[in-house]
Amino acid sequence: MYEKGKTPFKIKVVEPIKWNTREERQKIMEEAHFCQAYIPAEKIPINLSTDSGVTAMSQEQWAGMMLGDESYFGCKNWFNLEKSVQDFTGYKYVLPTHQGRAAENIVCTTLIKKGDTVLANAHYGSTEGHARRLGANPVNLYTVEALRPELSVDFKGNIDIDKLKKAIKEIGSKDISFLNMVLENNFTAGQPVSMANLREASRIAHENGIKVVIDSARVPENAYIIKEKEPGYKDKSIREICHEIFSYGDLMHMSAKKSGLVNIGGLIATNDKDLYDKMQDLLLMFEGFVTYGGLAGRDLEALAIGINEGLEYDYLAYRVGQVEYFGELLRDRGVPIYEPPGGHAIYVDASRVYPHIPREEFVAQALVVQTYIESGVMGGESPSSLGFSRTDPKTGKLTPCPFELVRFCIPRRVYTDSQIEYAADGIKAAMDKGKSVKGLRFKWRPKSEFSGIFFYQLERLP
Ligand SMILES: Cc1ncc(COP(=O)(O)O)c(C=O)c1O
Repeated sequence: MYEKGKTPFKIKVVEPIKWNTREERQKIMEEAHFCQAYIPAEKIPINLSTDSGVTAMSQEQWAGMMLGDESYFGCKNWFNLEKSVQDFTGYKYVLPTHQGRAAENIVCTTLIKKGDTVLANAHYGSTEGHARRLGANPVNLYTVEALRPELSVDFKGNIDIDKLKKAIKEIGSKDISFLNMVLENNFTAGQPVSMANLREASRIAHENGIKVVIDSARVPENAYIIKEKEPGYKDKSIREICHEIFSYGDLMHMSAKKSGLVNIGGLIATNDKDLYDKMQDLLLMFEGFVTYGGLAGRDLEALAIGINEGLEYDYLAYRVGQVEYFGELLRDRGVPIYEPPGGHAIYVDASRVYPHIPREEFVAQALVVQTYIESGVMGGESPSSLGFSRTDPKTGKLTPCPFELVRFCIPRRVYTDSQIEYAADGIKAAMDKGKSVKGLRFKWRPKSEFSGIFFYQLERLP
């Protein structure tokens, strides 16, 4: 278990932060129409809006980048990466991609047929986007506990097994493209999935001839939480736990920009040769040759090393420990968080921070905006009604997002505990503004709901 101060690294390279004043931030937010996509990153002193691609790499990774072999065919870094992924997953066939959604594109295009349903514990936004693009219906099977942010029970990232059985019975397995298990479950407040749940979900899917896909962006953090919390796993190594996780899937894809500890990269791996052959064909069309997949040789090397570093116990204890510490700081300040903390972020329950702002007035974004103005700390509304309510293409009916959460992610190996303490104070300062904080409404929004995750223009309600 991580003890505060016992960080398993020291800082050798630094990036300056430019601090700005409250007045400046107020103006920046207004000029950006209350949308982060329009704010230059250097105007955000502490950026907790994502943990994706914002990792600090190690000296070994930077040294490895100097050994990039930029050959088109068979560069030596590819063989290092292939081995790291095989050792991590236990899968034989590996395909590199430039990031996670490129891997999803290939997986979804291979497995989905028009009119299908794709079942999940909760799809990440880009998987949902690919499913819709291909004419399928993505369905999230949350557990009852997962929909209660205040309830502190373990493994709220689980899929609801009864709902899974019911869905298979009602839809019929031939019309289900695959079962998508996301570990950790980003759209359920970054909650981990238990091994028992994954095992059972996989058994049911396979019994019905349905393939199981593991969205693996944060599998090492999920594995660490299994080791700490799930009976029977205390004495297993992180790698053993990862192997068991992947043994329940037919294939994994991964945004390596998270637990791969790199700034760019993605992966697909499987033991299914037939699937591999089909996906290889698409990879050649979309990403480039199969030994680089849209990445430079130096990126492959950084990832080959990063995967192994991301599986080290001391690193994971620090990583998940820092997230827990952030949660503790917020609890101490009376800020309502989604309980319990997962492994990559703290999700604040915005509707309990500002109970006077209804979801239609984008309460989560109101908290994002206010935290930035008060402190220069940026979170992201994720998921909330602003970017994640969805219209049924057939009926035109709107399904509201079940959450109004603001995600404050911790980039890996980037911020010190004292910056995390500062962030907790910033969120508290925003909460203390209470009823003086008003809701928001659209001035403009794009036609596509997917683009609407990132782009919109808002104004304050009077
Ligand atoms: C669970 C999960 N899957 C897939 C992705 C997509 O990965 P990328 O951003 O590398 O395209 C993300 C990105 O945040 C994610 O969190």
